[in-house]
Amino acid sequence: MIHTATARAHANIAFIKYWGNRDEELRLPENSSLSMNLDGLYTETTVIWNDAQKENSLVLNNQPQLGQALERVVKHLDNLRKYVPSLPNYANVISTNNFPMGAGIASSASSFAALTLASISAANITLSERTLSTLARLGSGSASRSIPTGFVEWHRGDDHESSYAETIASPDYWDLVDIIVVVSDSHKKVGSTEGHQSARTSDLQEGRLKHVDNRLKICKEALLNRDFESFSEVIEEDSNLMHSVMMTSRPPLFYWQPASVAIMQQVKQWRQDGLRVCYTLDAGPNVHCICVRKDVPEVIKQLKTLSAILDIRVASAGSGAYIVQSDEVNSQ
Ligand code: PMV
Repeated sequence: MIHTATARAHANIAFIKYWGNRDEELRLPENSSLSMNLDGLYTETTVIWNDAQKENSLVLNNQPQLGQALERVVKHLDNLRKYVPSLPNYANVISTNNFPMGAGIASSASSFAALTLASISAANITLSERTLSTLARLGSGSASRSIPTGFVEWHRGDDHESSYAETIASPDYWDLVDIIVVVSDSHKKVGSTEGHQSARTSDLQEGRLKHVDNRLKICKEALLNRDFESFSEVIEEDSNLMHSVMMTSRPPLFYWQPASVAIMQQVKQWRQDGLRVCYTLDAGPNVHCICVRKDVPEVIKQLKTLSAILDIRVASAGSGAYIVQSDEVNSQ
């Protein structure tokens, strides 16, 4: 018998950022973080377990993969097997992102969340959402947050079992929208796995971590009270703090580009002028402008007056990871 399952998971945007690990192997983060899943931006992954074959394979966006991409997937399957020993040994993995690579949307969160759920389901195993979140974390920290639905908090925890993400509000709790402003579609030179490793080389990381629990508390309260003003202040500060750490790490990581800074300054100005919009940036130059749904047309109108914008994508709060299809087929 060949076991197969297909899972879908959304990308997410962090409002309180995860940057730096206490344990690189287990991806136990230095701090808790908070994010929103992005509706409409997802990875769909099929896992076909088949021990009749003696190697793993990966097809990513219709391209067969060897090298680094395949190695990272195989490492994740090996990690999953440490916690779920009954998983078979060899798999064919077929994965597609419905958003282009380099569109300013991190694909590792949705990819490892979908891979985790599909791998477990294809083996006919059912695990709790919390356990799935801890397992997804082993592939990419932020993937732990793409397992639960809506607005999500990832508790940093003390060990593998206690470092997991859970929903703090459903997707329809607040009609926040992420307007992703793409200013560059080139691939980043330094990925987040390396970035996390160098975070502690910055003198500012300690300062960033000092009050991060308090920022998370303020952000969570603002979200639950739908208080846009407090929310804006705290997420911009947290994004700036993470980028300050990046810029002062050894070697320094400069993700901001002139266009990113120009948009951030404009967003501040628009807010002073009464438009309810704020920004946050992940490990890249593209700016995520956050506002409520009714303000989307005005924010886009304003953004279109600026130069150096390659593309604009809009996403509201999305669901958690889910199974699209699960089958057992006879290999004969
Ligand atoms: O999960 P990773 O290793 O891709 O790290 C994600 C890091 C940031 O996107 C910059 C911040 C975050 O919390 O998502």
